[in-house]
Amino acid sequence: MLKTLSVVVVLLAATVVGFAQPAVASFDAASKVFRLDGGGVSYVFGVNERGELEQLYWGGRLEATDVFPPARAMEEWASFDSSYTTTPQEYAGWGAGLFVEPALKVSFADGNRDLVLRYESYSEAPHGFDVVLKDIRRGIYVTLHYEMDPKSGILARSAKIENREAQAVTVEQAAAAAWALPAGAYTLNYLTGRWSGEWTLTQEEVHPGARVIESRRGSTGHQANPWFALQAGKTDEEHGEVWFGALGWSGSWRITVEQDQMNAVRVTGGFNPFDFGYVLHPGQSLETPIFYAGYSSNGLGGASRLLHRFELERILPRTAATAGQALPKVRPVIYNSWDATTFNVNEAGQIALAEKAATLGVDRFVVDDGWFGQRKDDHAGLGDWYVNKGKFPHGLKPLIDKVHALGMDFGLWVEPEMVNPDSDLYRKHPDWVLNFPGRPRSEQRNQLVLNLARPDVRAFVLGFLDKLLTENDITYIKVDYNRNWSEPGWDQLPAAEQKRVYVEFVQNMYAILAELRKRHPNLEIESCSGGGGRVDLGILRYVDEVAISDDGDAFDGLTLQDGFTYAYTPLIMTTWETDTPDWLNKRSTSMSYRMLSAMQGSLGISADINKWSDEETALAKRLIAAYHQLQATIVQGDLYRLISPRNGSEFSANERVREDKSQAVVFAFIHSTQKGWGFPTLKLKGLDPSAEYALSPIEGKAREGTPAVASGAWWMHHGLEMDEGFRGDFQAAAFRLDKK
Ligand code: GLA
Repeated sequence: MLKTLSVVVVLLAATVVGFAQPAVASFDAASKVFRLDGGGVSYVFGVNERGELEQLYWGGRLEATDVFPPARAMEEWASFDSSYTTTPQEYAGWGAGLFVEPALKVSFADGNRDLVLRYESYSEAPHGFDVVLKDIRRGIYVTLHYEMDPKSGILARSAKIENREAQAVTVEQAAAAAWALPAGAYTLNYLTGRWSGEWTLTQEEVHPGARVIESRRGSTGHQANPWFALQAGKTDEEHGEVWFGALGWSGSWRITVEQDQMNAVRVTGGFNPFDFGYVLHPGQSLETPIFYAGYSSNGLGGASRLLHRFELERILPRTAATAGQALPKVRPVIYNSWDATTFNVNEAGQIALAEKAATLGVDRFVVDDGWFGQRKDDHAGLGDWYVNKGKFPHGLKPLIDKVHALGMDFGLWVEPEMVNPDSDLYRKHPDWVLNFPGRPRSEQRNQLVLNLARPDVRAFVLGFLDKLLTENDITYIKVDYNRNWSEPGWDQLPAAEQKRVYVEFVQNMYAILAELRKRHPNLEIESCSGGGGRVDLGILRYVDEVAISDDGDAFDGLTLQDGFTYAYTPLIMTTWETDTPDWLNKRSTSMSYRMLSAMQGSLGISADINKWSDEETALAKRLIAAYHQLQATIVQGDLYRLISPRNGSEFSANERVREDKSQAVVFAFIHSTQKGWGFPTLKLKGLDPSAEYALSPIEGKAREGTPAVASGAWWMHHGLEMDEGFRGDFQAAAFRLDKK
């Protein structure tokens, strides 16, 4: 039993329709233990004898009857390691001899830099708590926000830091949360890469010391993505315990995975403390990003399925058309000619492509870079968001009307935070860019970064985007961001305040996107940053889909997509069929291989479709029709990675199963058959064992004699065998299974 009712305050028991187990948040006033239960997860912390907030448990869901004793700080290990540093605090201030990564570090005007946070109070919050901590002497208050998703057990944590002192303080480091894991051996998984080579799943054992995953670039970045997964002991794709998390921040960020001298493992993440310094004047406060984290006992596959569902149900925005719906709608199939035409867009050429795209079954036609200002190539025009009269003599209207008449909607590319020095905007407002006066302004792709933290720049960006969307019938904008920061000065502010840019730039971007969605309730947005450079749970609250890479090679697509889906749902993953040979690797692949690779996410076509042969056109048309039919299963279903394409694998395969188990889609790819080895039998997952499923090919064939209908148990235990002829280089097949 839960102690006695007199000491237990059950704050909240939110039953969400269809959820087997409601999220429960409870506080035991006698033991000062806070507990959150959701999905298959319990998270427990308490106030220890010194008044610090200490984590007590995070893992598989416990019974409501299980009771935790009050928190007890760790013993002092030696004179070198005080109890303050070894105790797994929820949010430790840097002070009192803390040697692990602090959650918060501040410096006061008088030179004091010691901060020791103790529990003050708590209040109820939807699906969780707000817990207030305060420094032992000074008026620094920290409100820790906890919100548990009832279905997935994913916990959202963030902190608000408030200065109630009479003088300013500088926040030098502020995490959203610190997470403590049970003692043990772990493998860390994280995502690394570079432009045109994002989403590499990097795996390593956790050793004593800290592994820092970060971006110092002012935005999320291609080099690392703010996601981690820690696997305990012996785990694999579908088995074993995994603790995972993702940070919702599209600015410079840092996640530190640390094994301390007692072998305890903690993960601390939030604003990147590098070059950070946020001045809080008396009465001011700073809100950190949100750090989401969860637990699965079903391996990395289980962890990613939880994250996908959480993103679909709790993070991604809705439009007016999907308001209140459980899931965002599946994405329209897009045609975007970037790969085919690059900057050479014009009315006649785009209309010719639109006419062909419509016959293929494309839903949305998007004009990419090159439509505005004096934009011939990447040397000029960014910032001048008026239609280029040479390319579109009558404005965009004739093209937009044509696209609508062809039954598609219209989208447009913009890169709002950037400017080319060769632009009217820069000539008029050279002071609008990030810079340090008297220092060089480093150009990348011939462009500079506008200082979006400035109120006038923010007003300009919101203003031109709003005007564009008001004056034209545009359903979708692809918001690009094609360089990272350099010389991040904000010279209108006093020296001590200039680093606010790291926070306010990003907050303003979010505010602009939110405002645009409010003013144009059917607007849909793609986040692109030279491919997958701005993908995180922060921007995902404001955008409907993301570019994953500028690398459009269908073979590379398999590993890019595989890495991406460890953290993010296939629904937001734009995957383009592009010209062959592709521009990057010069690899030639068949239409069937390119289409099946691109059909694993939200399908787009970017090839020069007017050059396709009749056979290629017919095949693409058939596969787009199949994709439309199966799209909900492919992008909203549960993803099972059956054979990973990583590490040069000869084969790869994955499966998507609708949440109600009524349908599954299987994709299979051969990189290169070697020494006559046939494709392995695919033991499917996630089906209803006793239901009957009919198998039909989308592309390719199953082995002769494969039953047309068999039980879920058959497909999962006996498995699906490929046709003997499924061999060669860059081969692809796909199947659907429909519950009878
Ligand atoms: C970036 C994007 C591409 C394309 C170009 C346009 O590289 O990732 O898809 O939009 O910019 O310049």
